Amino acid sequence: MGSVKIGLIGGGTVALSFLQQVKNVNIPLSVSAILVENKSKSRNFNRIPFTCDLEEFKRYPFDILVDASSGGVELWPLFEWSLKQRKPLISANKKLLVDKFDDFHDLARETQTPLLYEAACAAAIPILKTLNDYYSQIPIKSIKGIINGSCNYILSEMEKGLSFNEALNRAQKKGYAETDPYLDVSGEDARNKLLLLIYHAFGQKLSREEVELKGISALKASDFIKAKSLGKTIKLIAEAKLEDGKVFATVKPMYLDKTISLAQASGAQNIIEVESFAKQNEFFLGEGAGGVATTLALTSDVIAAINNYKYKALLPLDLAFSK
Ligand code: HSE
Repeated sequence: MGSVKIGLIGGGTVALSFLQQVKNVNIPLSVSAILVENKSKSRNFNRIPFTCDLEEFKRYPFDILVDASSGGVELWPLFEWSLKQRKPLISANKKLLVDKFDDFHDLARETQTPLLYEAACAAAIPILKTLNDYYSQIPIKSIKGIINGSCNYILSEMEKGLSFNEALNRAQKKGYAETDPYLDVSGEDARNKLLLLIYHAFGQKLSREEVELKGISALKASDFIKAKSLGKTIKLIAEAKLEDGKVFATVKPMYLDKTISLAQASGAQNIIEVESFAKQNEFFLGEGAGGVATTLALTSDVIAAINNYKYKALLPLDLAFSK
């Protein structure tokens, strides 16, 4: 088998980690070109050609497109062109996936091309494949958890006594935070991920406005002192519940008893609790941010795409949600 060629978008922490890790899988994968936002920055891409010009990038040969960037709608013509050529798209770009949700899904469905975005939900935790496969015919009552690694890291550090700004600074240095960290601390990043999870857990598409949102930037040292005195910890919790056929969703900081399973995610870890009609809850824990964790999900999706794996949600509509 010849090497599968990848067109990579992004020049940040995740893209650099992907370039390193992609060599370590059991099938031959190679990156043929990289699309970056700013060509004048100094780069070390191991002699892989890079450009900031969409048309030039399209001329490099690639079989699969991997979006490890936080680029916006300016990338849409590239995705449209590439999906129309039936080149699978693997994405970690959650904000854009939500901004252009219908366009991505319609085109992937129309072209029957893999569109996979595990890396956009809980980094290393394979939650979308779990919802898609394991829970395929099992109705889900609720999903609840921690799905922003930066916030969990910041809250863990504040619990140890660091100020909000010091903790955020460290999260940025460790490569957990978004290019615009407001997306993390406002809870918007968690809300984008929750919207993707809701679609795969319940088959429902909610708008951002339908998810009640509160971030972590107003939390103070006194909140952690209060939590400690009560034997509690503070976590940013994203939750979606099915009630009378409708999904209700929130993202907000909550006091949790230190002993419960959800409170066990530390540092940049994520955790997701799935409550199904099996009357018991399952927990999924893993690294939720950073280059290595996100690359694991991207690489796994690249391999899935080579095997033509598709989300049920992208099958023809009448087959997609037959639970
Ligand atoms: N900024 C995100 C987070 C990166 O902290 O969770 C992973 O999606």
